[in-house]
Amino acid sequence: MHLIRRNRILRQTPAIRAMVAETILRPADFIAPLFITEGTGVREEISSMQGYYRMSIDKTLLEVKELWSLGIKSVLLFIKCKDELKDNMGTEALNPNGLMQRSIKAIKNACPDIVVMTDVALDPFSTYGHDGIVEGNEIVNDPTVEVLAQMSVSHAEAGADIVAPSDMMDGRILAIREALESSGFTKTGIMAYSAKYASCFYGPFRDALDSAPGFGDKKTYQMDYANRVEAIKEVMMDVEEGADIVMVKPTMAYLDIIREVRNNVDVPVSAYHVSGEYAMIKAAAKMGWLDENKAIIESLTSIKRAGADLIATYFAKDAVKLIS
Ligand code: PBG
Repeated sequence: MHLIRRNRILRQTPAIRAMVAETILRPADFIAPLFITEGTGVREEISSMQGYYRMSIDKTLLEVKELWSLGIKSVLLFIKCKDELKDNMGTEALNPNGLMQRSIKAIKNACPDIVVMTDVALDPFSTYGHDGIVEGNEIVNDPTVEVLAQMSVSHAEAGADIVAPSDMMDGRILAIREALESSGFTKTGIMAYSAKYASCFYGPFRDALDSAPGFGDKKTYQMDYANRVEAIKEVMMDVEEGADIVMVKPTMAYLDIIREVRNNVDVPVSAYHVSGEYAMIKAAAKMGWLDENKAIIESLTSIKRAGADLIATYFAKDAVKLIS
């Protein structure tokens, strides 16, 4: 054969492959989600997320310092609210001395430079496990948005760098931006879960926080996974309303959406590799059916290749160790 172009030339050795690799993961790409619970010395494994833990604040601080020392720049906080503090209005979410607010303060105190992002939604605080206030069988939009805006201000007061509304109510980004502005929090960022789909892959997360919806599902607010054009509408509106970063969630079944979003907006795009995606790799690896480390790096590289500038993942620590 007299071939003019031989594509295998650039695949011959690890050195040449490294030279021409188009997508490179780096520690600053990752956002590490953390599940925080009351108590001291608590580190409990989440049964459907093996190797991942709910921790009390003291243990969380050790974890955050380790993440920072590895080069990870941000954490995304979720708290497990005690049952007796839950109600329909998510009242506990606004408690200046609540677990979330105490966690933010403790982390900013222990590791001031790490970027603290906070989940903003009512589900961990709701007796119904829904992201908003329930009236009859409905998750009501506008009253929920008011609480989300107050919650965001409360997180900013405690020291959060970026609030991350994950609720999918209409108009919440604008309401949060206005509330932050009128409270003087002009340096607080908003990472909007803009294209968040109603997905079965959130199952293990709801175990972690005991936040599964008590009735119905989340399809009246989270997106239908049949839709692509709608994702662009959602992200464009969130950018117009003041989002600093937009997010697509989940990832592996939504790589087309990540790419399409990346091509359409002028802000950083994040992607959330969710609990069910973590659990699938863990379970298959445990059975000996997948090489865990290879599955982690291949998955995260594909998410970045699809267009994600940032990746929230339960594998953040593993990934950084694997790429260093
Ligand atoms: C709640 C929230 C969820 C996740 C992040 N924030 C669950 C849900 O919407 O039911 C899922 C994260 C994961 O599965 O890892 N607002």
